[in-house]
Amino acid sequence: KLSKHLDRPIVLVGLMGAGKSTVGRRLARRLSLPFVDSDDEIEDAAGCSPAEMFERYGEADFRDGERRLVARLIDGSVRVIATGGGVFVDPRTRKLLNERAITVWLDAPIDVLAERTGRRDTRPLLRTPDPKGTLEELSKARGAAYSEAHIRVTSGEGAHSNVVETIVEALE
Ligand code: S3P
Repeated sequence: KLSKHLDRPIVLVGLMGAGKSTVGRRLARRLSLPFVDSDDEIEDAAGCSPAEMFERYGEADFRDGERRLVARLIDGSVRVIATGGGVFVDPRTRKLLNERAITVWLDAPIDVLAERTGRRDTRPLLRTPDPKGTLEELSKARGAAYSEAHIRVTSGEGAHSNVVETIVEALE
């Protein structure tokens, strides 16, 4: 019923570990929409993971590819898009997404982000002596950007299904 009224993509933004991919996949299923993950798309296109891209080409090239990819995804069909944590930080991309999509900031306490991202070593930005401190710094640096999203949803330690329902309610 709901997906009929949705004429724009839904884009999840927020820090690493906020649950963008997991919540995005479930939200897409809930709304009977396709799901796409920008990190996965980059990996498919480049033939290597974001971490490997950082290593081989540097962050600037990764950001470049990411920006172009997201601009392309946003012009496709209506779907749920999970973005890499840096996507919404770029002012032009942020503007584009806020104009053409419904943007949802998945926010979570630093402890939760640190716990989730600590499970796997896939984030080049968190390969630091103090990943939690790095997350704190990123949160401070990016908070203003993320807060420009249309909808903000806090995702704590609880089940992701609650977050999905909160987003669905906010979309109505
Ligand atoms: C990044 C987040 C990652 C990935 C890359 C950089 C960031 O995506 O794009 O490691 O700058 O916040 P996730 O948010 O899906 O972990």
